[in-house]
Amino acid sequence: MPLNPETDYGTPQAKSEKTVTLTIDGAEVTVPEGTSVMRAAMELGTQIPKLCATDMLDSYGSCRLCLIEIEGRNGTPASCTTPAGDGMVVKTQTDRLKRLRKGVMELYISEHPLDCLTCSANGDCELQDMAGAVGLRDVRYGYDGAKHPNPGIDNSNPYFTYEPSKCIVCSRCVRACEEVQGTFALTIANRGFDSVVSPSMEESFMDSECVSCGACVQACPTATLNEKSVIDIGTPDNSVITTCAYCGVGCTFRAEMRGDELVRMIPYKEGKANRGHSCVKGRFAYGYAHHKDRILNPMIREKITDPWREVSWEEAIQYTASEFKRIQAKYGKGSVGGITSSRCTNEETYLVQKLIRAGFGNNNVDTCARVCHSPTGYGLKTTYGTSAGTQDFDSVEDSDVILVIGANPTDGHPVFGSRMKKRLREGAKLIVLDPRKIDLVRTPHVKADYHLPLRPGTNVAVVTSLAHVIVTEGLMDEAFIRERCDWDDFQEWAAFVADPRHAPEAIEDVSGVPAELIRGAARLYATGGNSAIYYGLGVTEHSQGSTTVMAIANLAMATGNIGRRGVGVNPLRGQNNVQGSCDMGSFPHEFPGYRHISDSPTLELFESLWGRPLDNEPGLRIPNMIDAALDGSFKGIYIQGEDILQSDPNTQHMAAGLAAMECVVVQDLFLIETANYAHVFLPGSTFLEKNGTFTNAERRIQRVRKVMAPVNGYEDWEITQMLSNALGYPMHYDHPSQIMDEIAHLTPTFAGVSYEKLDELDSVQWPCNEAAPEGTPIMHIDGFVRGKGKFVVTEYVATDEKTGPRFPLLLTTGRILSQYNVGAQTRRTENVVWHEEDRLEIHPFDAENRGVRDGDWVKIASRTGETTLRALITERVAPGVVYTTFHHPTTQVNVVTTEFSDWATNCPEYKVTAVQIAPSNGPSEWQEEYEELSKAARRIAEPLVAAE
Ligand code: SF4
Ligand code: SF4
Ligand code: SF4
Ligand code: FES
Repeated sequence: MPLNPETDYGTPQAKSEKTVTLTIDGAEVTVPEGTSVMRAAMELGTQIPKLCATDMLDSYGSCRLCLIEIEGRNGTPASCTTPAGDGMVVKTQTDRLKRLRKGVMELYISEHPLDCLTCSANGDCELQDMAGAVGLRDVRYGYDGAKHPNPGIDNSNPYFTYEPSKCIVCSRCVRACEEVQGTFALTIANRGFDSVVSPSMEESFMDSECVSCGACVQACPTATLNEKSVIDIGTPDNSVITTCAYCGVGCTFRAEMRGDELVRMIPYKEGKANRGHSCVKGRFAYGYAHHKDRILNPMIREKITDPWREVSWEEAIQYTASEFKRIQAKYGKGSVGGITSSRCTNEETYLVQKLIRAGFGNNNVDTCARVCHSPTGYGLKTTYGTSAGTQDFDSVEDSDVILVIGANPTDGHPVFGSRMKKRLREGAKLIVLDPRKIDLVRTPHVKADYHLPLRPGTNVAVVTSLAHVIVTEGLMDEAFIRERCDWDDFQEWAAFVADPRHAPEAIEDVSGVPAELIRGAARLYATGGNSAIYYGLGVTEHSQGSTTVMAIANLAMATGNIGRRGVGVNPLRGQNNVQGSCDMGSFPHEFPGYRHISDSPTLELFESLWGRPLDNEPGLRIPNMIDAALDGSFKGIYIQGEDILQSDPNTQHMAAGLAAMECVVVQDLFLIETANYAHVFLPGSTFLEKNGTFTNAERRIQRVRKVMAPVNGYEDWEITQMLSNALGYPMHYDHPSQIMDEIAHLTPTFAGVSYEKLDELDSVQWPCNEAAPEGTPIMHIDGFVRGKGKFVVTEYVATDEKTGPRFPLLLTTGRILSQYNVGAQTRRTENVVWHEEDRLEIHPFDAENRGVRDGDWVKIASRTGETTLRALITERVAPGVVYTTFHHPTTQVNVVTTEFSDWATNCPEYKVTAVQIAPSNGPSEWQEEYEELSKAARRIAEPLVAAE
């Protein structure tokens, strides 16, 4: 498709419902009140010359190029800062205006280097465009006037350069960093001719607070800030709209290419999840797609101690099918299973679970959501009747109070984090429940009104205590409860939470949170206007994860904060398609659309369309599969796009389970850690190489479009289809759109979804069906999906994982902005410069007690195992709490996490492990052995053959 850059309307869209009508150059136009004259002109197709204005930013009015004349008014005001008025008569092209604009451009050009022919932005430069637009033919001041300051090129950022000599001091970059990203890393230093953009205190970009979101690069109208990829490759000439494959925000991008080479990813302004913004991962970290570690040919080996043997696709598929058939014949139908991926598309996930249910003939299918958001599914389905968040991201713009629980949006969901910060700068109040001082607690122009630094594992106690204050102080919304919720359940719940044992004062010792903070936060949440809750894995990955989700749902119902914009309960999903993989029937007990497999009409529907009798008994979850492997009854597994060895808890147990199987099939991009135990490796494709859809955290289904041909030869859904055919369960899809048509046919919440609709509307949020043909941005508006909202009593039960003299500290884990999940992709990009290793955050008090200095190697030991990593001394964690990330396999932090899990869903309790820390001399013996094992497991016996 041609490059088709998005139109820049110069100033943001006004939101008013009132309109004004004005005349511009003789043509009448009607626009919302508050629209600038510049934008109104653009609506008519008239592009008034501009340099400092762009529609991603508020108007600024500094370049004086966009001048206009207004009938009855003196002077020549800037059209970007002049609001359109009713009856206004505007002229954009008069002799006076032309003369003035030329004069302005002469000044700009006189101090700009004239190296256009060799400039990386040649042909993609607004300064060039404007020189043409104003008809500049001569520069009276010559071309050798005082040049712009040239302190040299800053190449420190791995993805973009800063070349100050080309800067026109329009401040677009500074404003993008403030208004869009909310980092405030840039400023204009000095004055007049000496003005220069400066990261932080005249540091390099790399040394500044810059988080490499790229918003400034996108905003820059010249080559001053430019992608290194553009400098290397040249300007793009065609583009495809697609969706980021990293986190659950689901940003959409224009993948811009020259030929079939990807030049850059430009956040799509029409993207309803990201509104033209992105983070460092989506915008820049796509280099893994061509990393040398990528495996492009299928491989097999009989024993996991053998070297890999490269084989043809035909041989790999036939071998895999014959192994699964042999295992089922010998050990029974239930001896094999599979794991779907939250990184693959909906269509691919759907096919894997279909293969397992209809091809294998059992329900042994699970997904990585098991280890992250399965409690969300359980908790929200129980209370509200549907397993998903209630709002769209835009809703935050109407929130007055934002309650963030166990989530770190600026690292985990950065683009939504930026949108949230914007709302907070506009005046919304903020409550943070988190053991760590996450960035949101204090960041430029944002300060949490309440930070409740609760002890890991006490979420239920604290959230129930918030409810205690709301109920005992009469802060409920009784009218809402009477109309929308089950009154009997409410009364039982209200009596429960009102018990004095739930009072903030009573749980102070348990939670570590001062009572007055809980009281203040509860009052603010209940009475501050529209209150919205956003939560993450710090809620779900606990032995009481499902209970906390229900406690959160109770809070929102009790205060009437559900069913309209600005409020709601919003799980921030981790991986890009975690919502979709759950929707697509990846759990052992549910068909797509969360319908229980024992429900006869649903079972019959699937049986008739899939043409096979289906098992109506739930199959094995991931931990059950591993246990069954160790018992000798589970022997073969098909794992698509998931590194369970690194991401699941208790690594030794997982490794033993995998080692006990006879056929482990890994379909992935790289020889991930799980592949150490694999017998078959099927090379997967990246999101750039496939068609399909992802569903983000707001239930938004968005298209993934093929940007380039799969270098491994096949899209992932094609590989599953080949395997299914070889197993004797035929599949004949020609394109993923046909798979989506089947999903829509079988799944009431997807009934109205098709590729045609997605191409037409860009995206839809499910439910999308006859009742909601364009999707459902906000849920439970007129009533809960389950009918009456259900209050659930949430008794706090302390985890069995206890601190004591041997293990006195609590370890909790999380993510960092630059890395993603187990790091398989981001570790193979330049993002490693920001996070070369996982570090252990430890409070200065605990560090001093143990003789640990910043950067020292420390041993971290739990009842399960031990590992080593280097210490980072910080007050972000409270005394008694330590924290680390899990992006690097050499750290293997899951060696120390336990097998405790959520009572309802088996979601592992990653967030609470009792540990001890002691100084160490370096990586432990097992880590070195593990490195050796991994190297051996990556041995490939024969040279590469070309991918088919
Ligand atoms: S890349 Fe983002 S954070 Fe860094 S200076 Fe630019 S806008 Fe600010
Ligand atoms: S770096 Fe670019 S965006 Fe920033 S002030 Fe200079 S020209 Fe404008
Ligand atoms: S990682 Fe998440 S926030 Fe970043 S660009 Fe991708 S979808 Fe957006
Ligand atoms: S574009 Fe209006 S003053 Fe610069």
